[in-house]
Amino acid sequence: SENLKRLLFMEIITAVRGFKDVLPPETEKWRYIEETARDIFQTFGFREIRVPLLEKTALFQRGIGESTDIVEKEMYTFVDRGDESLTLRPEATASVIRAYLEHALYNTETVTKLFTSGPMFRRERPQKGRYRQFHQIDAEILGPDDPHTDAELILMLMHFLKKLELPHLNLEINSLGCDQCRPPFRAAIHSFLRGQEEKLCSDCRRRLVTNPLRVFDCKVESCAAILSGAPLLQDFLCPPCREHFVKVQSSLDLFDLCYRLNPKMVRGLDYYTRTTFEVTQESHGAQNAVVGGGRYDHLVRDLGGPDISGIGFAIGFERLAAMTPKPKTDASDGPLLFIAILGDSAFDEAFRLCNRLRMKGVRVEMDHGGRSLKSQMKRADKLQSVYTLILGEREIAEKKALLRNMRASTQTEIHLDQIEETIIELER
Ligand code: HAM
Repeated sequence: SENLKRLLFMEIITAVRGFKDVLPPETEKWRYIEETARDIFQTFGFREIRVPLLEKTALFQRGIGESTDIVEKEMYTFVDRGDESLTLRPEATASVIRAYLEHALYNTETVTKLFTSGPMFRRERPQKGRYRQFHQIDAEILGPDDPHTDAELILMLMHFLKKLELPHLNLEINSLGCDQCRPPFRAAIHSFLRGQEEKLCSDCRRRLVTNPLRVFDCKVESCAAILSGAPLLQDFLCPPCREHFVKVQSSLDLFDLCYRLNPKMVRGLDYYTRTTFEVTQESHGAQNAVVGGGRYDHLVRDLGGPDISGIGFAIGFERLAAMTPKPKTDASDGPLLFIAILGDSAFDEAFRLCNRLRMKGVRVEMDHGGRSLKSQMKRADKLQSVYTLILGEREIAEKKALLRNMRASTQTEIHLDQIEETIIELER
């Protein structure tokens, strides 16, 4: 009765909330996106790096910033059995730079262009387009600090998105200045909001103390209303930052690229300096950027390395896949040949033939269950196999079988000794 009880109460174990399976045929779209990115990024001189999913917690605390939503409340952090605080990476930039420093890549080259892709983890409130495990394609350029690099990176990104034929994309850019421009801006925000603190949400009141720039990121309507007349960082940029930003724009203007200046875009990570950018799709709303990125001129130094600049972006894979049309491929999804077996004695011969053809790269399917010819043919139909071959004892003895073209509903007798050549010929 204990067993019965256990059976009755046994539930299916489901995936963790906010963690999503990617099933076929969606996976084919993912592979297509990834291959397209790989092709284009390589054209622009990027090489692939793979970094671990797990890092020391301090990397993200120092890299992303203690006062960001990510570090404050979204990281999957735990103490492992060796009493070390570890975190499932919430983004890739910090890890890429950790690897860049650990392997001293800056000693071997003055410009390092790296890309990576894989899962990231943030414990956000799950909703459409927002998951707790999501995937990014991430690209980083380390070394140069000139505005043409910013333009080149944005150009590559937009070229990639165009290749995927995504409709209605908005590219927005901004400059977040540097350590020189931000203190006076912070003071201006403080004095603008003086006396209105009570009307702000509790998050914004906290942000005002920890990182006033972040109040622009607030999604609460009443906060946005209060901030509508607030001073903007663009009016506080120091001359070098202003010049950099102007040059980024004139460099982008060399190309047939539409973009919009968005002085209120602040990004959710602390490491940014100067150029930042986001890509959104009209129908997905401004909060649902598909790409976010920007320059970080002090992150390498802040993580213990030399004074080296960087710029990069990350594309949200789930959001990108949702807006990518189904890839156009000629290849049918189904097998080229389905071998149906008539009677158990033909099984071994069929199994061998199936394997021989597969070794030659032909997509072949067969049944292992000893089921009726009718149900085997039903499966061949469902799989949309181009050809079927029925193998029985007689066919094997006579070394001849009927090859049926399922689409044309025709059949031809073929010699079993020549079946490989025939099938391979047909596939051409
Ligand atoms: P981010 O803006 O935090 O930037 O994330 C980049 C993209 O990842 C977002 O635009 C979005 O498409 C996707 N994303 C973020 N969170 C989620 C989520 N919970 N569910 C689904 N998709 C999500 C970064 O991560 C920076 N590391 C980008 C960067 C690279 N900056 C410089 N280099």
